[in-house]
Amino acid sequence: MTLSRRRVPLLAPSLLAADFGNLQAETERLATSAADWLHCDVMDGRFVPNISFGLPVLQAIHRHAAQPLDVHLMIEEPQHYLAAFREAGATTITVHYEACTHLHRVVQQIKALGCQAGVALNPHTPVGVLEDIAADLDLVLIMSVNPGFGGQSFIPNTLRKVAAMKELLVDTGSAALIEIDGGVTLENAGALVEAGADVLVAGSFVFNSPDPVATLAQLRAHLDATIGAELSGQE
Ligand code: DX5
Ligand code: ZN
Repeated sequence: MTLSRRRVPLLAPSLLAADFGNLQAETERLATSAADWLHCDVMDGRFVPNISFGLPVLQAIHRHAAQPLDVHLMIEEPQHYLAAFREAGATTITVHYEACTHLHRVVQQIKALGCQAGVALNPHTPVGVLEDIAADLDLVLIMSVNPGFGGQSFIPNTLRKVAAMKELLVDTGSAALIEIDGGVTLENAGALVEAGADVLVAGSFVFNSPDPVATLAQLRAHLDATIGAELSGQE
């Protein structure tokens, strides 16, 4: 996968906020949108106090999706389900630092399956915990809300955290992308990218708008205007 030649930031609408009664249409209408990835939030009611959807729904999304599936596992013991999520169509699999006692092993398992490996950090978890594993990662996901629900308010400390994560990635020689998840809107997107974010997840901002495709286009145009249409990888 040519992650080094990506156009940043990538936009990853979260289907958690889509109409679950109409997932085929919701997925298909994003095909020609500014979405680069489709963010899929899997919740188990244990790691987070909510249950969203699991493997069969992901499989159905995959059947109708034009973009890679960016699967965010908010579940305990994710190691038991990695192959099944790969089978269901995941391109990127992100597990939570807080849910993995043997995180290094889990990351290697994800990569052995041929997926991109991501690790997510809850708002209270400092970026430094990833120091010894950063070079192995394709993605770090910084939660800008407490995981479990869409539609929450962005935690302002995230901006400081993104900058610290960027520094850590440079120091460790890691090429991992920084993804931000929770409360992303037109108001904070520019500042996040300036701080170092490479991937922006947006759920309610996109799907609670009258026209999600137009909203994604608006977000893309806003970012192009404020930070320029940059090509990140200087190969
Ligand atoms: C929260 C999920 C998010 C959520 C984002 O636990 O991980 O991906 O869908 O939704 P918004 O953009 O509404 O905060
Ligand atoms: Zn998510």
